[in-house]
Amino acid sequence: MNEFSRKEIIDILKDDSQNEWLFSQANDLRKKYVGDEVHLRGLIEFSNICKSNCKYCGLRCENKKVERYRLSKEKIIFLAQNAVELGYKTIVLQSGEDTYFTKYILCEIINEIKNLDVALTLSIGERSFEDYKAFREAGADRYLIRIETTDKNLYTQMHPYMDFDNRIRCLKDLKNLGYEVGTGCLVGLPGQTIESLADDILFFKEIDADMIGIGPFISHPDTPLKDSENGNFTLALKVMALTRILLKNVNIPATTAMETLNPNGRIIALQSGANVVMPNVTEQEYRPKYEIYPDKVCMNEAPSHCRKCIEAKIKSIGRYVSEAYGFRY
Ligand code: 5AD
Ligand code: SF4
Ligand code: FES
Repeated sequence: MNEFSRKEIIDILKDDSQNEWLFSQANDLRKKYVGDEVHLRGLIEFSNICKSNCKYCGLRCENKKVERYRLSKEKIIFLAQNAVELGYKTIVLQSGEDTYFTKYILCEIINEIKNLDVALTLSIGERSFEDYKAFREAGADRYLIRIETTDKNLYTQMHPYMDFDNRIRCLKDLKNLGYEVGTGCLVGLPGQTIESLADDILFFKEIDADMIGIGPFISHPDTPLKDSENGNFTLALKVMALTRILLKNVNIPATTAMETLNPNGRIIALQSGANVVMPNVTEQEYRPKYEIYPDKVCMNEAPSHCRKCIEAKIKSIGRYVSEAYGFRY
């Protein structure tokens, strides 16, 4: 039953009568393959400057309403140290596509953070093979780069300056360089079909992704998609549950976007196949400026508050925070 065909995936996504069965299957497989531990990844949003223009994203370069910021190397390392003190075993460095952060500067930052005895994940967009190679040699362990959608036409519509084939090239380069590779998709983009969501899930399996982040599209008022409807929480949860069922031992975050559409979204996701949470460890003053989509949760909270909050939630469902680095194998 774990090897659904494309047609079966489509049927499951279209039919809501078996949802409870689907979520409990995904939860059982999550327990079987990755256990009850939940991996926390401390997320540092170190620059909201972006040269890209993704139609859905509040940080797109054409959005002039954003107050842009870029953290110094010292500040980034300080936040990482803080996160390690709070018990995080993985640091995620995320930013817009900000070319100020050259290979050289990033390698320095990576080096220093790796001295803190943590796993390090980068989420900084499309770069050359040479850059990816240098980051890997400096010690980066993982890389997140969502394909966003495998529907090439939709991809082209949503990403004015970008090229689908280059995105695939990035994913291949990262795999070849020995990173644990994370990808994922948005659910509910205007014009996205159920069929293409099935293709997204099959794509994750085909490229043997190690981590898969799935989140509903949330309409941002300062983007060309301001009049589009939000994605559907349950559909995003179903795509995530099916991903667990097909890919088995991968790491799947309960995404912040899910919590934005449902006040209990991350806990529901943890009970429907997810085994990772990525709390924000950026200081409060920068959080509102990293507005990929509106009403992001934890907007006014301190890193220490989120750490305690999420641990209490995890314990309330009989799960526990992992002490391990949280690699796939
Ligand atoms: N709604 C939901 N997710 C979004 N992202 C960007 N904009 C939005 C939005 N409006 C997601 C993209 C990106 C990740 C960092 O944030 O999938 O890969
Ligand atoms: Fe930039 Fe990423 Fe937003 Fe696209 S999704 S505009 S690359 S920050
Ligand atoms: Fe940030 Fe709960 S995780 S307030």
